[in-house]
This record gives sequence, structure tokens and C-alpha cells, in this order.
Amino acid sequence: MLHLQDRVAREVSPGGGIFALLPDDVQAAARGATPEEIASSALNVLIRPQPEEIHPAGRMLMNACLGATWLCAFEEVGLPRNLRAFEPCAGSSEPILLATEVHSGGTGSYVTLNLNRPLAAQLRDKLAKLRMDWEIIEDYAQLADTHLEPGTFDVACFHHAVNDILQTAVSEPRGMDTRNVDWWPNERQMIEWLAEDHGAGRLGERARPALVEAVAQACELVKPGGYLIFDHWTWVKYQSVAWFPFQLFSDLIPMAREWILAADLPVAEQALEGRDPRWWMCLRRG
Ligand SMILES: C[S@@+](CC[C@H](N)C(=O)[O-])C[C@H]1O[C@@H](n2cnc3c(N)ncnc32)[C@H](O)[C@@H]1O
Repeated sequence: MLHLQDRVAREVSPGGGIFALLPDDVQAAARGATPEEIASSALNVLIRPQPEEIHPAGRMLMNACLGATWLCAFEEVGLPRNLRAFEPCAGSSEPILLATEVHSGGTGSYVTLNLNRPLAAQLRDKLAKLRMDWEIIEDYAQLADTHLEPGTFDVACFHHAVNDILQTAVSEPRGMDTRNVDWWPNERQMIEWLAEDHGAGRLGERARPALVEAVAQACELVKPGGYLIFDHWTWVKYQSVAWFPFQLFSDLIPMAREWILAADLPVAEQALEGRDPRWWMCLRRG
């Protein structure tokens, strides 16, 4: 864990590979942070669920730190330098793009399948300093094979994406247009519907099939010997938020693991150093 914390802190500090890619305002926050603040920002993304209080620089650096944790995972499983990475459900979130760019020195490539348009527009605005090829395709992760060739990716990264797929699967049949809604003001409703379906034992109707199909499609995209990596995180403070299904959101990776195992996909799990299997899952494609 100490090794990972140091590595994450180095990556997001001035001189680090991830630091170099950050927008100017985030770089300014990193320059203004003390070494102790940077170290606590790094630790914050390694502890799950995450501590309640985090200083402003830590907030600014959170996605950069998350990106560094993924970079460490890419290195640990030995992904090729010029890797091709697939990410379902990027939203406006850049950690996987940062990790792919740094791991490849700008020679890699990245594709996300993502539905929500306003979030995708925000993501595009964050990528000015990236050199590698990247593409945002607006469609369901479950329809990956209509856009992308099988066996052409080194890794599929489900970064905090299990909940995204489940939330969308239970919200669209209730009439929510998840492509066009302003995501954050509507997310509470999506999570409440997910909790409702979970409580009623209804995840098997739409949520589970959507997730299993998205993973099966990702499995087809990844070359034999490549990887499917998943993580999830949540804040400790949500434990006391009445509407938030904290237990469910702490069990998303174990639940996905159980469903994937039952789907009999050609994958085998392997451990990642310093990562709790409750919050991380690394599957090697057979
Ligand atoms: C809040 S963003 C999450 C970004 C990122 N996963 C993270 O947590 O940092 C959720 C995104 O997932 C997308 N999404 C949800 N279900 C999807 C699906 N089945 N296929 C493609 N995109 C999906 C949404 O449209 C939205 O853009």
C-alpha cells in the first residue's frame, strides 16, 4: 500500500507523468499543495470506502490520483506499452484516459462507449493535452460488437461503471432519457430506483442482464491474455445518507463477480497488489 501511495503521489506531483496531462487549474492546485496534502490525496483513493474529509487540493486531484492507481494496475499486469484500452461508461471521467496516455507515452489508443451526451461533452474539454488517439462512441456498452472488432483491445476498464450500467438499466424502462438528462441532478433518482429493484429482488429483470451483456461484449473485444479490470469506490459519509443504498454500493464488485462467474465467461481472476477484492476485480481473458 505504501508503495502504491508513493507512486500515486509521484505521478500527480510536478514532474509526474499524470501531472503533465492535467488542465492548468488542476496543475496549479498540485503545485500549491504540500507534500503531506499530496500524500493524503493519494491515500484517499486507495482507501475504500473513502474518508469523509478531504482538503480542496485533494478534491481537485482526485481523478488524477485515480488515474495513477489504474496506471499502477496496467504496469502490474504487464500491458503492452502501446496498449489499446476500452472503457464502457466514461461519462466525464478521465482517469482511464490519463493512465492509458502515460502508460503508452502517447502511443496508445482509447475508446469509450458512453450514452450521456452532456457528460461526454465535458470529457472532450478535459483532453487537450493528450497525444494518443481517443474516441467517444455514443451507444450502449452492450452493443460494443456493432462498433468495434473482436480481439482488438488489450484491456477493458470498468472504472466505477458497474453502478452506471445498473442505474441506466433500471431508469430507462421508467422513462428517463439517460442520453440527454443532466446526469448529476438525476442520479439520486436512478440510485433510488436501483435500490428499489434490489430490495424487491428485481435486479435479475434488467440490471443483471445489462451488466452481464456489457461484460460479455468487453470480453469479446479483449485479446486472449488481455485483461478486464473493475473498480468501485464510495464515500464513508454516504453510510448515514438515508436514501443511499450504502450496503449495495459496497457490494457491487462482489455482486458483479458472482454474476460473471455464473455467466461462464472465458476469464480467470487474479489479485492486484494492495487492492481489496471487495472494491477491485482483475480478470485475465483466456
Ligand atoms: C457518472 S458517469 C460515470 C463515469 C465513470 N464511470 C466514473 O464513475 O468516474 C455515468 C456514465 O455511464 C454511462 N452509461 C451508463 N450505462 C451505460 C451503458 N449501458 N452503456 C454506455 N454508457 C452507459 C452514462 O450514460 C454516463 O455517461
